[in-house]
Amino acid sequence: MSEFVKIVEVGPRDGLQNEKTPLTLQQRKALILDLMKTGLKSIEAGSCVSAKWVPQMADSDALFAQLPKDPDIQFSLLTPNLKGFEAARAAGCQEVAVFTAASESFTRKNINCSIDESFEKFADVLAAAKAGGIKVRGYVSCMADCPYEGAIAPAQVAKVSKRLLDMGCYEVSLGETIGTATPDRVKKVWEACLAEIDSSVLAGHFHNTYGMAIANVYQSLLQGIRVFDSSIAGLGGCPYAKGASGNVSTEDLYYLLSGMGFATGINLDALMHASQNISQVLNRANPSNYANAYWQTRCA
Ligand code: HMG
Ligand code: MG
Repeated sequence: MSEFVKIVEVGPRDGLQNEKTPLTLQQRKALILDLMKTGLKSIEAGSCVSAKWVPQMADSDALFAQLPKDPDIQFSLLTPNLKGFEAARAAGCQEVAVFTAASESFTRKNINCSIDESFEKFADVLAAAKAGGIKVRGYVSCMADCPYEGAIAPAQVAKVSKRLLDMGCYEVSLGETIGTATPDRVKKVWEACLAEIDSSVLAGHFHNTYGMAIANVYQSLLQGIRVFDSSIAGLGGCPYAKGASGNVSTEDLYYLLSGMGFATGINLDALMHASQNISQVLNRANPSNYANAYWQTRCA
């Protein structure tokens, strides 16, 4: 049997959080309903953050509450603090994600506190989550470069990741936030992390600003990583990382993983349908090479 690689679809969150014109709640919901038909098992549905900071993610809890429940799909919401966690829990969310960075400057710009202070807030979230039987994922941004500080030491990435795991996160996703890293650098980050952390609790989250995301996924696979975040139609960016482009597209990730013999559970027709719909809603060309080749060969 083929080895399974878990894909965490972050399109409805990372993908839409930076749109100039925020999508309506109904448009965001339509995207998630499309994604629910694709066989994807993990979908990040939005963020319970301040609507003053990220208006694109406003009312993610209300959106979440409207979603049909499916025992095969694990939804999650980003929650930077207890206030966000409580909104997610009230909406019925069973998994949340806390997020910090390996860079002090990025943490300050993104969530308005130091790394240590972010952990103080997460301690409250993790305690409440434990009491409520809710899973918590962790994110560490700037796994290679920070838009404000430049290169980040791999040892620092490993330290922050381990701290999240020790605190009770079940998995930590390393964000290559600005998409500048080449595979040789990603390799060094995984080496530092894998010296103290088991590969089964690590995930890769690669942005594609310089076209390196799929190469970085490949590098990570070679080092034993089996969980990747991606966005349908390569949507995405971070409001606090100017110029950073979208995540690796779920379509390209699907193609790489299938070609290498990994199982993903994805239904290709449904994936392409979701990808075409959101590209039409945003009125934007899809940057995924696979999606473009798929439609070209179909229309030929
Ligand atoms: P703050 O201003 O320091 O918060 O913001 P505060 O505790 O001082 O409260 C100020 C106001 O915010 C208060 O309201 C709070 O109630 C409210 P007021 O009394 O002024 O009316 N507030 C909240 N409202 C809604 N939900 C909440 C919440 N908390 C406080 N959870 C805060 C701190 C974290 C809230 C803010 O900085 C924020 O919302 N930041 C947004 C961060 C964000 O969403 N960034 C993008 C996601 S991370 C990312 O993209 C990277 C990733 O993809 C990986 C990678 O690529 O590297 C994950
Ligand atoms: Mg991201």
